[in-house]
Parts: sequence; structure tokens; C-alpha cells
Amino acid sequence: MLKNKRILLGISGGIAAYKTPELVRLFKKSGAEVQVICTPSALQFVTLKTLSVVSERPALVDFFDEETGMWNHHVNLGLWADAMVIAPCGSNTLSKMVSGQCDNLLLTTYLSARCPVWIAPAMDLDMYLHPSVQEHLNTLKERGVHLIDAETGPLASGLEGKGRMAEPENILEVFKSHFEAPDNGWKGKQVMVTAGPTYEAIDPVRFIGNRSSGLMGIEIAKALITKGAHVNLILGPTHLEVPEEVQLTRVESAQDMLSACENIFPNCDVGIFAAAVSDYRIKEVYTEKVKKSADNWNLELAKNPDILKTLSVNRKSHQKCIGFALETQNAENYALQKLQQKQLDAIVLNTVGENTGFQSEQNSVKIFTKNNQQFVTDLQSKSDIATILLEKLDDWQILD
Ligand code: CTP
Repeated sequence: MLKNKRILLGISGGIAAYKTPELVRLFKKSGAEVQVICTPSALQFVTLKTLSVVSERPALVDFFDEETGMWNHHVNLGLWADAMVIAPCGSNTLSKMVSGQCDNLLLTTYLSARCPVWIAPAMDLDMYLHPSVQEHLNTLKERGVHLIDAETGPLASGLEGKGRMAEPENILEVFKSHFEAPDNGWKGKQVMVTAGPTYEAIDPVRFIGNRSSGLMGIEIAKALITKGAHVNLILGPTHLEVPEEVQLTRVESAQDMLSACENIFPNCDVGIFAAAVSDYRIKEVYTEKVKKSADNWNLELAKNPDILKTLSVNRKSHQKCIGFALETQNAENYALQKLQQKQLDAIVLNTVGENTGFQSEQNSVKIFTKNNQQFVTDLQSKSDIATILLEKLDDWQILD
């Protein structure tokens, strides 16, 4: 898949560097050529010998090779590559990339590279959340550097949270999607998709929910992968299978879904909100199973947060939000109201009929944009609808 692609792998100092020989091995197994460049501090965590053996080329760290007398020319290295990834990218390297400092071979090569560049940050959770780190990540993203977001889990410090370097398999997937997909507006974009129902607990065994299967959102995730996007899927309870290539976060309630989205959306370019979120939850969830007694049982409900609106009104200027609307009457008017009130770039109107909507394999939708474009699909498979939706949004330049 990556046959004959030339990948520059930059490794900065950090414990996650111990995973990089595996990353090199995966790239090589997929057919890529890999040139490794380490910062001096990376060598405290991984050796040049190991990296040279697995990459089948001398791994570099110095501008000048003392043994052979060769000058490791950063401009040539930058021109040689089809893609560059810095993994792990620690805070020090990140801040030097922003300021343009070039006190090592990796940084000079980054500044000379003409190919697309990815970074896979790795640091402790509080460092990762620090405003200066987040600001640097945003600056690099605005300059076109692609982020392979850190993952959540146990950290070297003993703490638990977001900051682990993306697993080598997930980094490989990013490159596979990049090189496989033909050019289009979704390629390389970080996209968050919400899908499925939410369940709102009544007690430990009961819940209120809805009939959404999650299929539409999962088909959108699949279509995005085909187009070379990086997909973060926030999925409510469903038994449907999810493609391996997506970064999956499973949630149950609307509040869980909101927290997951608040975590993930800041690092995304586009959000597609296909989930059927319960508008209400049980005001006070019973901690024990409620026993049957009275003939009537009145449950008090509290309104759930509107996830789409919360994120859309607070988004950064480059971020796009696409919503869905599910209506049974006065459909177009309600959909257009949602487009405006939730400050969306586009909305997809779903109607629930005998052969469409929840738990159906097929659908027929109307797409409206904030610029008054619209498109009506036939009754088609949800997979075809997903592809049409992505193509229309791209054609209408909603992603720009
Ligand atoms: N949505 C959301 N959070 C909610 C409710 C809805 O993110 N609490 C999103 C849905 O994912 C969808 C859009 O908002 O993209 C519209 O959802 P819909 O259920 O059609 O409308 P509501 O805003 O819930 O309004 P109503 O139920 O009154 O039609």
C-alpha cells in the first residue's frame, strides 16, 4: 500500500520513542522506504543501531557523519520525502517547530521539507493540556501540519489521561489513508462523527433511548476513510461493526457524548453530528433497581445539553459543523431553523418513513447549506447517501 513511498520519520526525546522501531517495521512491511532522523535526546530512549537495522538505512542524528565524512544535507532529505512524521513529538520539538529554531538535524529538515508533515505528540497529560502546548499545536495546524492526536491511557508518570503517542498501527493507518485516497477536499482532514442513539439510565437495569441504529453515522465514517480523512467516531450503544481505521470512543448517555466531543472536537476540522441524542434524561437516576408497586410511575425528566449547538457556537473559525435533522412534520422549515439556530454550515434532513430513517438500510435525505445550496437524494442505501453527502459538501466548498 505504501509501496516505494519515502517517509521521513523524525524522533524526538521521550519515552514513547521506544515504540518507533515498531513503527519503522510497520512502514517497511507496507512497502515504504524510511529514513530516520533523531534529535540527540531521542537517543536516550532508542538506539541508532536498532533504527538503522529495522529501516535498512543509517539512522541520522548529526549534520556531519564523523566516520564517513558525509554531510547529511537537510535540504536533500526534505526534498527526498513524500511525507514526514515526527513521532513522538515532545513539547520542546513542538515549540521549536513553531518558532523556527533549528539546532538539530530534525528541525532543519522539517523547515526544509516540501512534503506534508504529521506530528504525533507525546507528553504528560498536564503538559499536553497546557495552553502553550495547545497554542503551538493550533499554530502548526493553521500552517498545514497534520496532527495525529495523542491517545488516552496510562502515562509514564504513573498518571492516567491524554498524552500517549498514537499507537504505531494508528499512525500507519493515517499514512495508508493519505496515500490511498485520490485527491479531494476531505483528504487529511480530522473529522469527528457522532452516531447512534444515547441511553439515559433510569436505574441500574432500565433506560430510555430511541430506535437509532447508528448505521448512517458509521457509513459516513467509512466514506470518510475512503476519502483519506482521519475519523474520530463518537458512538452511542449499537451492535453494528465499526471499521478498524477509526478512532472509536463508545459512549452511553448524552452527557458522556458531550464530554467525549468536548475532548476531541478542538483538534478536528469538521464535525458531522449524525447521532440521535436523547433530548431528556432522568432527573435523578435510581441507584438500585426500582421495584414494581404503584399502578402509575411518573418519571421526572431534565433537558440534556444540545451537543451540536454547544460545540458549533463555540468553534474556531476554521472548523465546520454539519448537523442532521429528524422531522415528521413541517420538515423543511424545522430543518432550516436548526441550520440557523445551531449556526451550522449544512444540515441533512432525514424523514422517518416506511423504508427510511431509523433501523432501515436505506434513506432519502435533503441537504441544505448556509449558502442556500440544496440537494435531494433518491431513496438509496445509507452507504451511497454517505458518499453523496461528502461529495456535495466538497463540491460546494463547505470544507474550505
Ligand atoms: N443534537 C445534539 N444534541 C442534542 C440534540 C440534538 O447534538 N441534545 C444534534 C443531532 O445530532 C442532530 C441535530 O442536533 O445533528 C438535530 O437533532 P434533532 O433530534 O433533529 O433535533 P433537536 O435539536 O433535538 O430538536 P427537536 O427534537 O425538537 O426536533
